[in-house]
Amino acid sequence: MKPLSDIITNRRSIRKYKDKKISEEIIREIINTAVWAPSPFNSQPWNFVILSREYVLSRKDHIGNFLYEKAKTAIEKISQKKDLSQLIIKKFLKNFGNAPYLIGALRSNRIGDTDIEFQRASVYAVIQNILLLAYDKGLGTCWIGIDEKSRTEAQEILGIDKDKGELLALITIGIPDQRIKTLERKPFHIWFLE
Ligand SMILES: Cc1cc2nc3c(=O)[nH]c(=O)nc-3n(C[C@H](O)[C@H](O)[C@H](O)COP(=O)(O)O)c2cc1C
Repeated sequence: MKPLSDIITNRRSIRKYKDKKISEEIIREIINTAVWAPSPFNSQPWNFVILSREYVLSRKDHIGNFLYEKAKTAIEKISQKKDLSQLIIKKFLKNFGNAPYLIGALRSNRIGDTDIEFQRASVYAVIQNILLLAYDKGLGTCWIGIDEKSRTEAQEILGIDKDKGELLALITIGIPDQRIKTLERKPFHIWFLE
């Protein structure tokens, strides 16, 4: 068994997958464990939609192109010149690196009075669990964020009705077809105020 600290530090976003299916069972197993994340007042405000690559690519509008167009300005700003990372992101969004499945993570409408940001935070905690659990099982993932302004349209493109919740992210999942070296961590502060 790998120590948790190794799983956390060695997991990397995978943007290229083998053209092989993975079982629905393994996806269920990962999600059923991932949902042991904390949530405000234990509200557990999440739902998931599993989308096959065929389903996603057969939709009338291409969700990858839509997300790229929405993020283009920000991506260009970050990458300054038309560099590799921009091309990698664009290429990845074309067919999601050939991933057999995308997991849609939704904030459910099981709301109560808890703060919506807190609820979103708990879905993000589940997502991180999904990434780590998948990595532990030899699978690759990549978290694709869907910003607030794009959510309604993204859901329409994917045919995910509002009753299922608010789509916060898509997560590609499959068998990795690339190895990525560990990234550096940027400097940051830890302050103890005593
Ligand atoms: C909220 C969020 C949104 C992200 N959106 C995208 C995305 O749209 N496309 C993509 O290729 N990667 C996306 N990523 C993955 C990051 O690019 C990646 O985590 C980061 O570069 C660090 O690399 P690592 O995951 O390999 O450690 C996203 C990650 C987060 C947390």
